[in-house]
Amino acid sequence: MDTPYQSHINKNDFDYVYEPAEDSFLLIDALEKDLPYLKAKEPIFCLEVGSGSGIVVTAFGMAFPKTFCFSTDINFRACEMTLSTAIQNNVLLDVVNMNLVSCFVNNKFDVVIFNPPYVVTDTTECGGCGIEASWAGGVKGREVTDKLLDAIPKILSPNGAFYLLLIKDNIPLEVVQLMSKKGYKSETIITRQVRNEQQLVLKFYK
Ligand SMILES: C[S@@+](CC[C@H](N)C(=O)[O-])C[C@H]1O[C@@H](n2cnc3c(N)ncnc32)[C@H](O)[C@@H]1O
Repeated sequence: MDTPYQSHINKNDFDYVYEPAEDSFLLIDALEKDLPYLKAKEPIFCLEVGSGSGIVVTAFGMAFPKTFCFSTDINFRACEMTLSTAIQNNVLLDVVNMNLVSCFVNNKFDVVIFNPPYVVTDTTECGGCGIEASWAGGVKGREVTDKLLDAIPKILSPNGAFYLLLIKDNIPLEVVQLMSKKGYKSETIITRQVRNEQQLVLKFYK
């Protein structure tokens, strides 16, 4: 998977929008590693939740030019940056400024991608819509993630795949068990130690 051009982005904008980091690139590497599986699915609709700079969904759109790509972010400036990243890289994308997937009703996506705010913080730090929404994950760093897990059965197509980045502090096994109760199998696609953080990408599917 090619890395999208980012030269259009003014570095100062990263005071307001999450700057692509090791976690963003691990997610792209996970999608790349799973390309044969994804290609066999011939996805029609893809959604990235919390797209930030737009680097991940744009990389996906570049690899799958026939897939309709959508993204959401609670941070309006992130939505603006995502759209410009897609345009600069000739990817057709619809961007929606919203909380997780709240406005999608009966939409079924073949691929859903999420690099959530995963840092363990106080609950009171969660729920903003500025740069703090990039990292503040509340209890276990899972407060935002767990809300999306509940929405997955409503928005993922029966044959779809959901890619989720987590760190060890998020207790990935608990997430696997929560999703198993909803009828999803899971697979660890990739793991990487980044300084003191053990990052991994899980895939969920029926
Ligand atoms: C860790 S950053 C990841 C950004 C980008 N996907 C990447 O990998 O570089 C998390 C993103 O999720 C967004 N976010 C946090 N809470 C959200 C929510 N409730 N609904 C939608 N987006 C949210 C943040 O604004 C931020 O852009």
